Amino acid sequence: MTAERAASNPETEDTVTVTFNKTGKSHELRILSGTAGPRAIDVRSLYAETGMFTYDPGFTSTASCDSSLTYIDGDAGILRHRGYAIEDLAEHSDFMEVCYLLLNGELPTTEQKDKFEHTITYHSMVHEQLLYLYRGFRRDAHPMAILVGVTGALSAFYHDSTDITDEHQRMVASHRLISKMPTIAAMAYKYSIGQPFVYPRNDLNFAANFLHMTFSVPAEDYQPLPEVARAMDRIFILHADHEQNASTSTVRLAGSSGANPFACIAAGISSLWGPAHGGANEAVLNMLQEIGSKDRIPEFIERAKDRDDPFRLMGFGHRVYKNHDPRATVLRTSCNEVLEALGVRDEPLLALAMELERIALEDPYFVERKLFPNVDFYSGIILKAMGFPTSMFTVLFALARTVGWVAQWKEMVEDPNQRIGRPRQLYVGPAERKYMPPDERQ
Ligand code: SDX
Repeated sequence: MTAERAASNPETEDTVTVTFNKTGKSHELRILSGTAGPRAIDVRSLYAETGMFTYDPGFTSTASCDSSLTYIDGDAGILRHRGYAIEDLAEHSDFMEVCYLLLNGELPTTEQKDKFEHTITYHSMVHEQLLYLYRGFRRDAHPMAILVGVTGALSAFYHDSTDITDEHQRMVASHRLISKMPTIAAMAYKYSIGQPFVYPRNDLNFAANFLHMTFSVPAEDYQPLPEVARAMDRIFILHADHEQNASTSTVRLAGSSGANPFACIAAGISSLWGPAHGGANEAVLNMLQEIGSKDRIPEFIERAKDRDDPFRLMGFGHRVYKNHDPRATVLRTSCNEVLEALGVRDEPLLALAMELERIALEDPYFVERKLFPNVDFYSGIILKAMGFPTSMFTVLFALARTVGWVAQWKEMVEDPNQRIGRPRQLYVGPAERKYMPPDERQ
């Protein structure tokens, strides 16, 4: 049900009146109701009727669209994809099934899933010319820089799926992005360590194939422990989509101009890279390594509380979750399983992370501000245990989030009410002034 239909539904019809105190003029605005979560005041007519904008930097109180993909209740720690709880999906589903659910709206039948998985598997190779793009990067290039560049370049290779008005081309581009991102990501890793690229294998599932392309070498195949392959798949599920976060909003805004999907996803990858967003998992590991030992934790807790110190406790806090991040809860369990399976239960960074979590959650500063561990706090520890360098952590986040970006992009492009995104501003610059020749300026 889109917001339009919700608003036009008599049972949900409600309005709010805005009255300007100085002029006494009033304006009635509709209140839109969705399936769950906060209702929304429809302010689309406000500027035309009042000549005024709403003001909401960072969009903390703004619904930028209506969407049927993901629902988050930050106070209750709820995350659902198309109505299914993330805990259920992480426990009972797999990443391919979650991809199908996000793209198509329903869990697939066995036949539908097999067909979808076959399609994704058989799109996993990249054009051979793409390999030469990597040669242009320095070996020490950050893998995220390579991911942004190579993803943006995909539109130069796959012209036959860039017409966004064509439903078939939209679906082909969606499949290509989901299936090729692991290949591109693994190639970025191989390039950074001077090893040859490893081609995908059609006999492996999505997660195992990615691990194969990342850790196999021509001399020896990598055989992941079942627990590791399952944890990899679960990490992908937990990062698949997350409502209108910074990178997803970037993809939607880029897509609203009609840009091709490959360019839009490259824009999303760029936004995700920031340490306040997807770059946090890498920042968590760097922070734990900087803390180094449990006896230094209080020093860093104090720094995190000091407003004059830009230091933040990475992996803590969330714009929406003010109770707990349900993904962190699932990952915490996975973390213990993987470290047990890998025999690194006493991984010092995990012990340090657990102690940091314990101390932080007893500290009034964090409790009052509802700063709990988020999805990034544990993912970095698992990924390090699996053998990934910290520079690859956000790459893995982008790999998983590609399906969410693509599904959100498709939903936007297929929305009949879709228009180019064009936020306005509150202008606070100089009033009009005359141009002065250089010799009259002081
Ligand atoms: C992701 O949006 C999404 O859905 C993102 C994501 C997704 O799946 O797409 O969930 C993925 O990005 C998870 C978040 C990863 N980022 C980090 O772990 C970086 C550390 N976290 C902070 O940068 C911060 O918590 C944010 C950016 C996540 C949230 O910022 P907000 O909501 O704007 O919080 P805020 O800055 O308003 O903070 C409120 C208060 C402030 O103190 P006061 O001004 O009230 O005194 O809490 C403090 C902040 O200083 N605070 C922190 C803190 N986070 C907030 N203090 C210390 N350490 C922190 N991590």
